[in-house]
Amino acid sequence: LPSLSPSSLDFSIQIFDQVSSTNETLWTLVADGAPPGTVVIATRQTAGKGQRGRQWESSPGGLYLSVALAPNLNARDALLLTLCSAWGLATTFRAYNIPVSLKWPNDLILEGYKLGGILTETKIHQGQITKAVVGVGINWSNPVPETGINLQTFLGDRPHPEITSLEMLAALTLWAVASGYQTFAHQGVGTLLPSYQNLMVGIGQPLVVEGSTGVVLGISNTGELRVRLNESLRSDPNSPFTGASTP
Ligand code: BTN
Repeated sequence: LPSLSPSSLDFSIQIFDQVSSTNETLWTLVADGAPPGTVVIATRQTAGKGQRGRQWESSPGGLYLSVALAPNLNARDALLLTLCSAWGLATTFRAYNIPVSLKWPNDLILEGYKLGGILTETKIHQGQITKAVVGVGINWSNPVPETGINLQTFLGDRPHPEITSLEMLAALTLWAVASGYQTFAHQGVGTLLPSYQNLMVGIGQPLVVEGSTGVVLGISNTGELRVRLNESLRSDPNSPFTGASTP
């Protein structure tokens, strides 16, 4: 089992009105000695970061939160930090009757729309992850693009005494990330990954990447997406699927 830190729910939270990115602010704090468990939350971000270098729209009303961790994990297992956090969030929301699913690797999906996402960043020393920042963005009452949904819209008139404010959502999110991380720490990938796969959207559906297609099968025992390639693509050395794991 990986040795992960912190091993208890010992968070120390710093709240900011405006930052460029909560991940960036947290890395600065970590460089100045802030321990694992340090959390940065901001009302808004001016340069929120999404996956693949994208911008994350970060107007007030959304949750922008980053958590510092010190996992002792092999560098190639960085993906697992994103997967365990996403899993923790989906299972926690489900416990509150909010049927969140996962789009591999880092999207939180609600009723087919994007509710939020995760951006994990790591520092690596001699092939090991020494420090990590897990950044979570969740749409609460902020305006969202057409492909998005915010939680307040979903909750509408449904009774939801557990989540009535952004602060409560922040507390739940921290609890969820800790729960995913600790499940990973205590039970390893053997429990986490099959359960993650059960929460995935898109299995059996075609996947189009840069004009090429395959079918999503699930995830492998290292957390990678398993895709069955269309025959014609298997031999194409320029295919974006080259290197993807296949059955
Ligand atoms: C994605 O789905 O593309 C990941 C989005 C991650 C956004 C969050 S908001 C808090 C943290 N700080 C950032 O700059 N990004 C993450």
